[in-house]
Amino acid sequence: MILVLNGPNLNLLGERQPNVYGNTTLEELEEMIDSWAAELGTPVSSRQSNYEGQLIEWIQQAQQEGFGGIVLNPGALTHYSYALMDAIMAQPLPVVEVHLSNIYAREEFRKTSVTAAACVAQISGLGPRGYKYAMEYLLNKR
Ligand code: DQA
Repeated sequence: MILVLNGPNLNLLGERQPNVYGNTTLEELEEMIDSWAAELGTPVSSRQSNYEGQLIEWIQQAQQEGFGGIVLNPGALTHYSYALMDAIMAQPLPVVEVHLSNIYAREEFRKTSVTAAACVAQISGLGPRGYKYAMEYLLNKR
């Protein structure tokens, strides 16, 4: 069972800088994730929060909730949240960091991810498909 977490401002997908993030809304992204999960034969739960503490609590509780891996798009928290990094390091599940945009091709501050070092991998710039590849990896498929 996979947990997909989207952080701050990702509730605005579709209307927020579509030239950078595309036209897919969060609801549509979560539907795509549901259908990929069905193809891969895994249950999935997708959650979004604008609050760092909420994301930390979901990460802390993930193993107890029965999840086997986490796909995490931390939004801008990627670039400065040591609290989120510590939360990832403090728990045993593999976490794959996903960014819709290529964070290395944008502003300087986006080129640093403090959370990626606590993750098994980072996928950046592949749009919604990054979530699919992250799930495939976590399920050890393909
Ligand atoms: C993002 C990239 C971050 O720099 C930004 O703050 C976001 C979205 C992405 O998915 O490309 O909110 O994580």
